[in-house]
Amino acid sequence: MSALLEVSDLTQRFGGLTAVDSVSFQIAAGSVSAIIGPNGAGKTTLFNLVSGFQQPVGGAIRFEGREITGQAPHRIAAAGLVRTFQLVQLFSDLSARQNVETGCHLRGRGGVWAALTRHARARAEMQRARETADELLHFVGLQAQADLAASALTYGQQRLLEVARALAAGPRLLLLDEPAAGLNAIETDLLAQTIGRIIERGITVLLIEHDMSLVMRIARQIIVLDFGRKIAEGPPEVVQNDPAVLDAYLGGVDLGGGASDA
Ligand SMILES: Nc1ncnc2c1ncn2[C@@H]1O[C@H](COP(=O)(O)OP(=O)(O)OP(=O)(O)O)[C@@H](O)[C@H]1O
Ligand SMILES: [Mg+2]
Repeated sequence: MSALLEVSDLTQRFGGLTAVDSVSFQIAAGSVSAIIGPNGAGKTTLFNLVSGFQQPVGGAIRFEGREITGQAPHRIAAAGLVRTFQLVQLFSDLSARQNVETGCHLRGRGGVWAALTRHARARAEMQRARETADELLHFVGLQAQADLAASALTYGQQRLLEVARALAAGPRLLLLDEPAAGLNAIETDLLAQTIGRIIERGITVLLIEHDMSLVMRIARQIIVLDFGRKIAEGPPEVVQNDPAVLDAYLGGVDLGGGASDA
């Protein structure tokens, strides 16, 4: 079976710091995988490289067999690889529906500008975007909030709204950077269920997460980073008992599946 995402020897440096150090891994289609590791391990930097927000100093990224290394974020998103951010990045004055609609425009080739310059087609595209947005708001359970400003939503709802917006771009691979950060237990449970239904739609999920009980519950494959290096990889039960992983987390989070935060 060929991998959906293949990362080879990926490296990123900031001055003297090697934030991502020759990292290689593969993500199979149809799975939930997680990247874990202590603060500053290089997880978000890895996402920045894979999604085109930063250029690596070395290594290669292949998506669906095609090399995407160094491509612009909008091209990578249009190819079907879409990410969310560690901190909420919504248009706070726009409604929930409008926020999701902005995601739809990543999908079309011409984008918003082409839509605005071609009147009839623009109207059809905007109508489609609205229908997609309403369907996705329903999918994440925010249909009742469609007309509210994003800033009026609870924090947990804002995180789900970001997932809906990312889905609007039509991803085949969805990267989520700490989607459960700041969520309470009920919201985290809702998120886990939503991720389960995203998989059922045929979308592959790769998430960065500090909430170990969530990771151990939903991820089939876990990649562990420490100081930019991949120190372990495997299913939860293997990674959980790996001496190198326990060492990296020494005095830190409980990998046994209990409540944790970092
Ligand atoms: N743009 C940048 N310029 C300089 N250093 C950076 C930059 N981005 C990240 N770093 C450094 O690279 C290292 C990895 O950072 P990164 O944000 O990828 O870690 P992380 O694993 O996502 O951490 P966290 O769990 O806290 O989100 C850290 O030492 C960080 O300070
Ligand atoms: Mg991070």
